[in-house]
Amino acid sequence: MRKILVTGGAGYIGSHTVRALLDRGCDVAVADNLSKGYRENVPAGRLHELDINDGAALSELMRQAQFDAVVHFAGYIAVGESMREPGRYFENNVGGSLSLLSAMSEAGIRRIVFSSTAAVYGNPAATPIEEDFPIQPLSPYGESKVIVERMLRWFDEIHGIASVSLRYFNASGADPEGRLGELHDPETHLIPLVLRAAITGEPITIFGNDYDTPDGTCIRDYIHVNDLAQAHILALEYLMAGGATEQFNVGTGAGYSVMDIIRAVEQVTGKKVPYVIGPRRPGDPAALVAASEKLRQTLRWKPEYRDPVTIVEHAWNFARRRGHGR
Ligand SMILES: NC(=O)c1ccc[n+]([C@@H]2O[C@H](COP(=O)([O-])OP(=O)(O)OC[C@H]3O[C@@H](n4cnc5c(N)ncnc54)[C@H](O)[C@@H]3O)[C@@H](O)[C@H]2O)c1
Repeated sequence: MRKILVTGGAGYIGSHTVRALLDRGCDVAVADNLSKGYRENVPAGRLHELDINDGAALSELMRQAQFDAVVHFAGYIAVGESMREPGRYFENNVGGSLSLLSAMSEAGIRRIVFSSTAAVYGNPAATPIEEDFPIQPLSPYGESKVIVERMLRWFDEIHGIASVSLRYFNASGADPEGRLGELHDPETHLIPLVLRAAITGEPITIFGNDYDTPDGTCIRDYIHVNDLAQAHILALEYLMAGGATEQFNVGTGAGYSVMDIIRAVEQVTGKKVPYVIGPRRPGDPAALVAASEKLRQTLRWKPEYRDPVTIVEHAWNFARRRGHGR
């Protein structure tokens, strides 16, 4: 049985991945400071409430258990907030990762899967986006992930820590039974915001409907959180088998517009989604869709959920279970 340390495992993607790892028979410990995550997302007895910037606490945890690998989700995630408070993002995302890597190298843990992002590509010249496209982030958030990817290369070169950086596109959906789901505070992601508009009747703002796309609204690649969790498991297996440091996009390769998502929510909930059209947001590319052949071929990954209606259905199950939408 593999022993895996998951940082940020009380958050959205981390909690789904912890479930998937436990289902695979791994022994899992979660390190999370609960700044953005939820205690109830972590199965009993597995949560170590600590800040990854606290190197001594991390080292102590790594002394208590011999981890085979780390899956590193912990960090701040809001692009807009990072444009107002860049220091917080560099401190938590870069500083926290550095503290984690230092503790790992001291403890002799030699494998890590890292949550990177499509934001490393900024506003790419073409779509679908391949891994070797120029790295040109447009926000401190994206830059913080680029810096960590670069640090990971050096920690491999010098300390022999092999890593897989997974560049997620738009994580979405929820555990199909609705036990876990997306609950960011503040919420900035489209599907929970559209569901909220359907539930409350308060209009959602669409940022621009004059993009060069079929219906004028932005197109994104929505990747189901359970398919994302599977990518982490395959990445861990790859590293366990001696795989070298790599970067992979994680997206389905299919793009859906904001209006497609609004229609999917209307279909699933049976409610009208009120919306208003606002100005474009600076730095929002018209379309961001992943080329995911590298992940499919190298790790044999295959997304199970590609239909936005199913993804929205799972997110809706979670919202209903929490008492919304009745
Ligand atoms: N959600 C997306 O669409 C998306 C897309 C690309 C990349 N990512 C990356 O995936 C990761 C997880 O995202 P998420 O949506 O699950 O976010 P989330 O906010 O739900 O989860 C992050 C977790 O990390 C914890 N955390 C933050 N700073 C910490 C620290 N210093 N010490 C210990 N714990 C800390 C939080 O308490 C939270 O539980 C992040 O690194 C994010 O940048 C997310």
